[in-house]
Amino acid sequence: MKNLLALNWKMNKTPSEAVQWAKELRAALPQTSAELAIMAPAIALQGLSLELKDSPVKLGAQDISAHESGAYTGEISAAMLKDVGAMYAVVGHSERREYHGESSQIVAAKAAAAIAGGLVPIICVGEGLDVREKGEQVAYTLDQLRDSLSQVPVLGADQIVIAYEPVWAIGTGKTATAADAGEMADAIRGALGGLYREYADGVRILYGGSVKPANIAEICAQTNVNGALVGGASLDVASVVGLAAAL
Ligand code: G3H
Repeated sequence: MKNLLALNWKMNKTPSEAVQWAKELRAALPQTSAELAIMAPAIALQGLSLELKDSPVKLGAQDISAHESGAYTGEISAAMLKDVGAMYAVVGHSERREYHGESSQIVAAKAAAAIAGGLVPIICVGEGLDVREKGEQVAYTLDQLRDSLSQVPVLGADQIVIAYEPVWAIGTGKTATAADAGEMADAIRGALGGLYREYADGVRILYGGSVKPANIAEICAQTNVNGALVGGASLDVASVVGLAAAL
């Protein structure tokens, strides 16, 4: 299966900076076996979509409304995101869970809304440091996964992507070892097998947390790791070129 290199810019780059960045990336993009997708601020998607329309680079949002349309001030629906060229939507990122109070039930509703609107949700799960120190990371992450999938009717392996992001490794420079990432990806694959038997083997499982050009190849070489969700190292064109070239 093709690795997915998902670039999560978080709250960085204005729409004009985003377009300039995309121009530079197009000029520098190396041969890569991976699928490349930018998770941009929603307001930058239209400009990026025009700039990247003849390129293989895909687009996604960093969040999505659980609702289809209506009186939900400030929300952005799946239909709106699809209309400006998004293919993916990150849901349940730990920063949304922590700073915006998103429970796994809300995440499940958002994932379902993404699928209903024709987008592929990248559903994020992962434990905090306290859980890891108690050695309870697998049970915790799998509970979070099952809850975050509780409203998600999957009819094909390419309808969802799972991202395992241990919270203690996000933006901290501390990366889980490739073996840690691989062990959790194996556990996630097993849990998916219990939920969506015939599709589980085809669902892409990403690792996220301080991924850089120097460590991405080893992480993605793990049997059940099928790509990466990259934050800090996704902001700079040279670094993205390095990430893509390593896959
Ligand atoms: O979505 C990306 C993750 O939060 C990882 O961020 O690569 O800056 O650690 P990071």
